[in-house]
Amino acid sequence: MAGDIMGASGRTVFARVAGEMKRTGKADFVVANAENAAAGKGLTSKISDELFDAGADVLTLGDHAWDQKDTAQLLDRDSRVLRPANFPPACPGRGLVTIDTPMGKVTVISLVGRVFVRNSDDCPFRTVDALLKKEANIGKVILVDIHAEATSEKTAIGRFLDGRVSGVAGTHTHVQTADEQVLAGGTAYITDLGMCGPTNSIIGCDTDTILKFFLTGMKFRFEVSSDSASAMMHGAIIDVDESTGKARSIKRIRE
Ligand SMILES: [Fe+2]
Ligand SMILES: [Fe+2]
Repeated sequence: MAGDIMGASGRTVFARVAGEMKRTGKADFVVANAENAAAGKGLTSKISDELFDAGADVLTLGDHAWDQKDTAQLLDRDSRVLRPANFPPACPGRGLVTIDTPMGKVTVISLVGRVFVRNSDDCPFRTVDALLKKEANIGKVILVDIHAEATSEKTAIGRFLDGRVSGVAGTHTHVQTADEQVLAGGTAYITDLGMCGPTNSIIGCDTDTILKFFLTGMKFRFEVSSDSASAMMHGAIIDVDESTGKARSIKRIRE
């Protein structure tokens, strides 16, 4: 699973590192958060095709889901692109997909938190609980992206789902946490995967612009940092026993 892909340099590093992992068999299935893939703002059809060609199997979104105007159409066209399942039900798209793979069915669920994010979304706990109970076509291997700001909320989702899914990985902060672990019930967990993007930055954005914002409180157009040479792919490799759906291990990626 890969953290938020940020702009062109994030896409390039994702394609290089995840593509290599796919080709060498180090990764069988790749889930990436693509909410910042289009110059930091959402995801376009063209860029989603590019990321699938690069090795992604499922792309998830977050609070930036509607930054690009063609995302609604993209969600209707391609079921491998997910918006959070607990967005208001009237939104286009879905938050769950099950893909047939040589290892069996893999289900991916996208969720968004409610602490310090948006206030229009349904409860992620009740939403995922209902999905796991009601969804008919669900794989043994289940991966959940919880796109949220608060570490407490993400940890709570991890503990809530322990033993029911293979992995829960946080996204959104763009800063990788060092708390990766397999919980008691067999669910791999990390509070935040980090970011695929320029690390010489402030969470992927141009440092000078963000500093000006903090020092003046004025509005500025945030741009992705142009230091593409500093781009890294952050994420985690989760090893799952596909016969039980339980995780054997989780290992952070910083490449
Ligand atoms: Fe993000
Ligand atoms: Fe976000």
